[in-house]
Amino acid sequence: MSSLLIDNIGELVTNVAGTGEGGRLGIRRGAAILVEEGRIAWLGPARYAPAADRRLDAEGAAVLPGFVDSHAHLVFAGDRAAEFAARMAGQPYTGGGIRTTVAATRAASDDDLRATVHRLRTEAMRQGTTTIEIKSGYGLNVADEARSLRIAAEVTGETTFLGAHVVPTEYADRPDDYVGLVCGPMLRAAAPYARWIDVFCERGAFDADHARAILTVGQAAGLGLRLHANQLGPGPGVQLAVELGAASADHCTHLSTADVEALAGSSTVATLLPGAEFSTRSPYPDARRLLDARVTVALATDCNPGSSYTSSMPFCVALAVREMGMTPAEAVWAATAGGARALRRTDVGVLRPGAQADLMILDAPSHLHLAYRPGVPLIRQVLHNGVPQCRP
Ligand code: NIG
Ligand code: FE
Repeated sequence: MSSLLIDNIGELVTNVAGTGEGGRLGIRRGAAILVEEGRIAWLGPARYAPAADRRLDAEGAAVLPGFVDSHAHLVFAGDRAAEFAARMAGQPYTGGGIRTTVAATRAASDDDLRATVHRLRTEAMRQGTTTIEIKSGYGLNVADEARSLRIAAEVTGETTFLGAHVVPTEYADRPDDYVGLVCGPMLRAAAPYARWIDVFCERGAFDADHARAILTVGQAAGLGLRLHANQLGPGPGVQLAVELGAASADHCTHLSTADVEALAGSSTVATLLPGAEFSTRSPYPDARRLLDARVTVALATDCNPGSSYTSSMPFCVALAVREMGMTPAEAVWAATAGGARALRRTDVGVLRPGAQADLMILDAPSHLHLAYRPGVPLIRQVLHNGVPQCRP
């Protein structure tokens, strides 16, 4: 058994509230971390650090929990750069382009899909993401949804069945039949590879009755619930997520007072995805309003080829601070501990003894720099399960 001591840490963000400075960030100075067998074995003042087989010198930089990206759609083929260009020239985003990606994904080989998932997973890891949720949703038939999840499960345990992304073209005039397929054969084929089930509850996708039916059978099959809600306009999604006890309501861009109150009185996390508003040139969600109402907020990338083709959590942190009324501390918490809450995980998004040794060392003295220096590659080293990912 080999142990690793990380010391000379300038600022250690633990996300253990009440320890050190920075409120919820639980910032400690002069601390060291001992990693053994992929877990944090010890954390405390460097002068009391136990002996270790190896040492990693943080050179006075900030150390944070790895990002927990709780919302990404990485299993797809092709891209939609032309659609992005059209939007930047004034076209609105409708979600209709999802069908373009469905056609490309169905035509792709397993190896092509696998290569994309691995490429994006690696890209995300280099930017500090140590836990990532990956959805299906570009297969939309039994075989292609099942294989999307099988491939996603090769790189993460946080897999989500999103057969109810949109109604595919071949079912356009019989959406009830498609919902029947999702609830029956597709769910049976997908469930062995999925931890979660999700529905795009939106005008033009699935209404509240369909979403409720799909989530209810998914829950009976043992899957946890999450929901794409209130992204493109006001709607019933957030209230449905709360009613069903979903782990997360994602997007939350168009919220009524009742939606905010429902979230505030619930265990459902509001996951905000500012990459989507950036890439669709839409108004950002009002994170300040949610935080002031004491809603638990997470930040995630929504990485997908249509509405948000970024795998960068630092970019989302910077957007959240600049455009959504979050402080840098709130944004960093939301991108780490918030994502963990959205996935109902207590072993990631936090640095304390017993937690998974998932962390990043910045090329910067403080977490503030993630928002203060937007677009700059500030992630020097990432440890996932205690294993250095970027440099030996
Ligand atoms: O979360 N909202 C639905 N799904 C994705 C968009 C997918 C696409 O445009 O391909 C999202 O933004
Ligand atoms: Fe999404």
